[in-house]
Amino acid sequence: MIPTFFRIIKSKNRLGFGNSKKNQIVLLFPLCPTTTTLYFATMGEAGHDYEVAGGGEAGKTVRYGVVGVGMMGREHLINLHHLISDGKQNVAVACIADPHVPSQQQAVELARSFGWTGLQVFAGHKELLDSGLCDVVVVSSPNMTHFQILMDIIHHPKAHHVLVEKPLCTTVDQCKKVVDAAKKRPDMLVQVGLEYRYMPPVAKLIEIVKGGSLGHVKMVAIREHRFPFLVKVHNWNRFNANTGGTLVEKCCHFFDLMRLFAGANPVRVMASGGIDVNHKDEIYDGKVPDIIDNAFVIVEFDNGSRGMLDLCMFAEGSKNEQEISVVGDIGKGEAFVPESIVRLGARFAGRAGVKTLRAEDERIKYDGLHHGSSYLEHLNFLAAIRAEGDKVPAVDLKDGLISVAIGVAAQLSIEEGRFVRIDEVTDGTFCRTYT
Ligand SMILES: NC(=O)c1ccc[n+]([C@@H]2O[C@H](COP(=O)([O-])OP(=O)(O)OC[C@H]3O[C@@H](n4cnc5c(N)ncnc54)[C@H](O)[C@@H]3O)[C@@H](O)[C@H]2O)c1
Repeated sequence: MIPTFFRIIKSKNRLGFGNSKKNQIVLLFPLCPTTTTLYFATMGEAGHDYEVAGGGEAGKTVRYGVVGVGMMGREHLINLHHLISDGKQNVAVACIADPHVPSQQQAVELARSFGWTGLQVFAGHKELLDSGLCDVVVVSSPNMTHFQILMDIIHHPKAHHVLVEKPLCTTVDQCKKVVDAAKKRPDMLVQVGLEYRYMPPVAKLIEIVKGGSLGHVKMVAIREHRFPFLVKVHNWNRFNANTGGTLVEKCCHFFDLMRLFAGANPVRVMASGGIDVNHKDEIYDGKVPDIIDNAFVIVEFDNGSRGMLDLCMFAEGSKNEQEISVVGDIGKGEAFVPESIVRLGARFAGRAGVKTLRAEDERIKYDGLHHGSSYLEHLNFLAAIRAEGDKVPAVDLKDGLISVAIGVAAQLSIEEGRFVRIDEVTDGTFCRTYT
């Protein structure tokens, strides 16, 4: 394609690159969702002939590409920057893909601030895949795009490892298609971004529960009280059709944790929720948002344990954003985020015996938006990639699928005012194929 125009931009240029030492060429192709390409290269370099950002000692360079560089995609870039800066990981960021020029520009600006040269920018994931520039693709585009992007990655002749943001997809059917397609690609690792598992107080509580000191887990209660959904590019997160619904989009994190604490799979779900405070005065293309802002959800598991989610998204006046309680027949454990505290008590010792522990993880080099969990998620996934088949991703496609299925069942339960069995939303294939 011939560019409609190009500009040679001096340092401190119009894209706002602060520390440019050389002139930059920026070629802007016609703005169109599928074909727009903003090509950014250091002067004198062309095509693929450039040095990618990276460094470190561990093995062959693992080259990353990020698809979708909005808020979360840029968060991944910052995490990767910290991995690179650590010096122990031989990691590079080769390319990004995003159709939204302002997002591209912000990512490029970030790359410049890290001193990265030669980041290649594409408008779409297909161009990124065809470029052959990366070994790992981070998918951090809006939820409703995950399915097609994942299928294209899985069906691409070149094998790419994938870290896909939660939720895996917006429907169970799409998740199942991805799981089935990925089975035919043993040369690819796919990790789902259910990163709350890595938050230090949550990880500590998981360790305590798995250690058995609480006994058999009977009840898992998770309270998320937080601020409303943020504004996103083109307001995609305002509608269930794009997100899968609040209980899929946001709460798949918590259903994943419940399943982990319970050590079991879900059987049926009952929920009550609504849109009571947020987004009621917003209109996009004549439509009012339909995403719920509060809910109670009960999940019953196949080992008899129960989970409960208490979600409120107009609760900025809270000390913690997440409060988790796990009670077994011997004791109780709690985790508080962001206080980063874990409490642990046994029935026989009563209130006086409750211990409070501070949870920290010294491997974290960047706390970021999620209390260091994204950094640990990257470390973990990179270790699985480096193990070349000897290690599986900590959070796999099955985890992604089941967390979506619980959210879908909860959304349906609110709509229909009844318990919804998990096998209803999975067409019965859940137990047969995915447990
Ligand atoms: N792990 C977490 O806790 C967490 C937190 C926030 C967001 N997320 C997830 O990250 C993803 C992105 O969310 P966000 O907050 O960054 O949204 P965002 O709106 O800030 O950014 C999304 C970006 O993706 C781009 N995009 C849209 N369609 C695309 C396509 N087909 N290919 C490539 N790029 C495309 C948009 O132009 C935009 O720049 C979502 O799946 C979201 O659920 C996860």
